[in-house]
Amino acid sequence: MNWRKLRIFLLTVLVLCLIPATRYYQIDVPLLRFLKGTPQVDPLALHLSGEFVETNLGTEQDGDGSVTVRMVAQQYLFVPHCILVPSGVPVHLRVTSADAVHALAFEGTDYNVKVLPGTISEAQLQFSNAGQYKTVCREFCGAGHYAMRSELRVVPRDQFPALRPGERGNCAAQ
Ligand code: CUA
Repeated sequence: MNWRKLRIFLLTVLVLCLIPATRYYQIDVPLLRFLKGTPQVDPLALHLSGEFVETNLGTEQDGDGSVTVRMVAQQYLFVPHCILVPSGVPVHLRVTSADAVHALAFEGTDYNVKVLPGTISEAQLQFSNAGQYKTVCREFCGAGHYAMRSELRVVPRDQFPALRPGERGNCAAQ
């Protein structure tokens, strides 16, 4: 193989790599569907029924002292806008998207959760100290991506309001 052929070959490989790279946001969801099977949740019906209806969002106290947080990411906000969790206990995060691919990150921590429509992303978090973290979107999701911000408040365990069964906590409870 001479140099000319090699250059053409390498250029072709590069172009072939660029095509899927630029189509990344489009292929992401179908690829995950292909790997994970049928959608777990219908992104268009989140508000109508199932785990992610509005009254089910926020922080829920589990029997063992840990908490479960359910959130929806959508263009261009996170619902609920501010979540409240106790420090020093496991936080089970369950989040889905109502539209595009987002990435939920808590600034100042290593937590970064990719959120896709049709699937439920799960993550186990734990915050040792009380404090406030900015919740940001780290996946380009459209014109309002850079404004997609919300808040996570970690309060000392004994200051976390005791929730009744079925009740959901958010920052308004503080
Ligand atoms: Cu949502 Cu970027």
